[in-house]
Amino acid sequence: MAGGFVAFSGDSPAFQAKMTVYVFICVVIAAVGGLIFGYDIGISGGVTAMDDFLMKFFPAVYERKKQAHEDNYCKYDNQFLQLFTSSLYLAALVASFFASATCSKLGRKPTMQLASIFFLIGVGLASGAANMYMLIMGRILLGFGVGFGNQAVPLFLSEIAPARLRGGLNIVFQLMITIGILIASVVNYFTSSIHPYGWRLALGGAGIPALILLFGSLLICETPTSLIERNKTEEGKATLKKIRGVEDVDEEYQSLVQACEFARQVKDPYRRLMKPESRPPLVIGLLLQLFQQFTGINAIMFYAPVLFQTVGFGNNAALLSAVITGSVNVVSTLVGILLVDRTGRRFLLLQAAVQMLSCQLVIGIILAKDLGVKGTLGKTEAMIVVILVCVYVMGFAWSWGPLGWLIPSETFPLETRTEGYALAVSCNMFFTFVIAQAFLSMLCAMKSGIFFFFSAWIVVMGLFALFFVPETKGVSIDDIKDSVWKRHWYWKRFMLRGA
Ligand code: BGC
Repeated sequence: MAGGFVAFSGDSPAFQAKMTVYVFICVVIAAVGGLIFGYDIGISGGVTAMDDFLMKFFPAVYERKKQAHEDNYCKYDNQFLQLFTSSLYLAALVASFFASATCSKLGRKPTMQLASIFFLIGVGLASGAANMYMLIMGRILLGFGVGFGNQAVPLFLSEIAPARLRGGLNIVFQLMITIGILIASVVNYFTSSIHPYGWRLALGGAGIPALILLFGSLLICETPTSLIERNKTEEGKATLKKIRGVEDVDEEYQSLVQACEFARQVKDPYRRLMKPESRPPLVIGLLLQLFQQFTGINAIMFYAPVLFQTVGFGNNAALLSAVITGSVNVVSTLVGILLVDRTGRRFLLLQAAVQMLSCQLVIGIILAKDLGVKGTLGKTEAMIVVILVCVYVMGFAWSWGPLGWLIPSETFPLETRTEGYALAVSCNMFFTFVIAQAFLSMLCAMKSGIFFFFSAWIVVMGLFALFFVPETKGVSIDDIKDSVWKRHWYWKRFMLRGA
């Protein structure tokens, strides 16, 4: 998500800065990028459960689905159907490497504009698709949009925010993702009853935020860091004055210039990332992405309607349940924003691991006991499953969801921050792709065992958090080596060697 190069102006909340209306507008427009990402995550599950869509592109899946209860767990197992969902993340993974270059060579603003153009073409192709190739091509272009947008937007938000609000704004991006997912599930719910082109409307819906991002991005400024980085120092200073709403920005400006010069001196940041002293943030940053995805969250986010149909809900009830889990996701992310700087990161990671584990285990047991391959769940049991899914989503949304992004953004030192963060993003996209591509086949092969599979991962990640993730609450971003790594029972060995 962070591109090419980033220089935060230190951590000092002492710089004079107001939260200006202009910054507010910039934040709102840029955050629309997160909303589009969330919309794309949420829309595919609903669309892939719509009969008109299946009849047109996946007749074999439609036939299997019609033979109701033939096999609960396997009716949606189809590699192409999964490719429809997953191709977006593979494309995003590839695009993020290019986006990293455009972010530093052209700036954050043009990178966001490129994202919105990819989004618009992608939406056009997917919603107007006459065949599977157009459909997948559309998803790939949407993926390019996600790759460019997810690189530029969080970076833009961090650079434009006054230092004291940076952490909160980081999670605003996650909040927008969850709002996007929720909007998508509401759209799925309403468009599913519009025949035969409801799915076209659902996929086309992403065009509205894409247009907002395209035209909105004409109004926003380039970040001072990006301008200074590209030697447009005067313009950089003028922009800084404008966004901070004060005349005296000398101190912050100097700090930015210094940060840029310092970062320029590090010729090969990727090499530096391989050194022992980079080991703790690198290992934690990358493993958090694997763990975040292997909580099984996207099995729910992508395929909630499909999953709820599996346990015996009708089309509409399944879509409605997805709206409910989507709302729980948004509200609990808000709770996360409130808690993260009070309880700290570790408490949330550990507490949520216990919560998610309990839910997954009980869901697994209910399905194993009562659903079977051809049966259905009773009404009460199906309701219990929905409630457990909600409690599970709740835990994820105030912990591993936002913290998966926050921790890598605050643990790499300045000289490798962008590169480290970019690797974390690519890693996240990769594991998102793996889950999207494999989940329906895993569900078919493992049946209710899939919930025990995710449970086992949650145990592993809980132990990892317990022993290897230190608390970074309230630690100054540039002081992390001395006050965190050098004092940690395990990670300190890399510091002594590398220091
Ligand atoms: C994850 C996404 C997930 C979303 C759910 C994000 O933090 O990266 O993969 O779909 O949370 O809210």
